[in-house]
Amino acid sequence: MARVLIYGAGAIGSMIGYLLGQPTEPDDRKIEAVALLGRAPHMQKIIKSGLRIEFPEGAQLLQFKYCFRNLDDLKESDFYPELVIVCVKTYSLQRVCFELNVSGLLQGRLRNACFLLLMNGMGNKETFVKETGLASDRVLEGITTIGAKFSGDGFIELKAKGKTLIEDKICEKKIYEKIRQFLENGFRESGFEIEFIPDFKKHQWNKLFVNSVINPITALIGQENGIVLSDQLSLTVQNLVRECVIVARSEGLETDEESVLAVVRNVAKATCRNTSSMLQDVQKKKMTEIDSINGYIIQLAREHDIEVPVNEALYGLMKSLA
Ligand SMILES: NC(=O)c1ccc[n+]([C@@H]2O[C@H](COP(=O)([O-])OP(=O)(O)OC[C@H]3O[C@@H](n4cnc5c(N)ncnc54)[C@H](OP(=O)(O)O)[C@@H]3O)[C@@H](O)[C@H]2O)c1
Repeated sequence: MARVLIYGAGAIGSMIGYLLGQPTEPDDRKIEAVALLGRAPHMQKIIKSGLRIEFPEGAQLLQFKYCFRNLDDLKESDFYPELVIVCVKTYSLQRVCFELNVSGLLQGRLRNACFLLLMNGMGNKETFVKETGLASDRVLEGITTIGAKFSGDGFIELKAKGKTLIEDKICEKKIYEKIRQFLENGFRESGFEIEFIPDFKKHQWNKLFVNSVINPITALIGQENGIVLSDQLSLTVQNLVRECVIVARSEGLETDEESVLAVVRNVAKATCRNTSSMLQDVQKKKMTEIDSINGYIIQLAREHDIEVPVNEALYGLMKSLA
């Protein structure tokens, strides 16, 4: 059994905490293999009443031995993580790096730990490695299509039982095998899909394509995902996808406009009644992840001297909402 710290236990982080914690202590004891680190009110509620997860078939309650409000709490505990799963929004990643750096834990009890960045957007690993100085072979990336909602302190709802993909590392280190098995067991025993894949970048780009279209359009119009399939938006979506594909190809990705359009439309169809995360953020008047989605495309486009006017328009409009 591996010891896992969830850094940023909000919607997805708490759900992953549940998936990994649930099978480890089947006899109602407090979870000891998985620790949560999140905002104080959420952590306090979990300490007091447990983590409540609402599934379509009913609610489940899980007790955690370790709930931290910050890294100082971790330092004072007897919890020694082998894997840290970072589940914050992309705009919080720099702050996480700062906290890790000043804590001294990267030279202390986290000196041999691996990190998994389970987040949307692109450029997360590059930022994390640059800001922390960690060797890149200690940092994995993952994406998930699980849908989770933070419904209140100590309370999470499962909205979609999607698949989680983790970058596969060809690595000698024994710890990777242990972590991999722990994640696979946790997900499978909880009835969720997880896959370690060698061509992770391709999947990450596909998620970026989908997010680049669905997120800003739904957030700006204020409607569910299905809106991107409307006739009025057909040309905008097509031009947006074309720009993203040109940028991706200039980065060496083998892809084409038609197949990406099909992926985007299929996701929009399958999730037509869902409210995108970016629209939810706008509704809650929170920051959005636009910088690591369309902002990332724009940044690469500049490096390759490519014009991406539709991305720039959506990006500018999103930034103006703030
Ligand atoms: N939710 C989903 O269904 C879903 C699905 C697929 C992918 N994702 C991706 O997963 C990532 C996480 O999304 P999410 O929906 O789980 O976000 P979230 O609910 O906002 O969870 C992140 C949590 O981490 C907290 N946090 C941020 N920085 C922290 C720090 N330094 N120390 C302690 N806590 C910190 C946040 O608090 P504050 O809000 O106070 O900053 C928030 O409670 C995003 O990249 C998102 O796009 C989410």
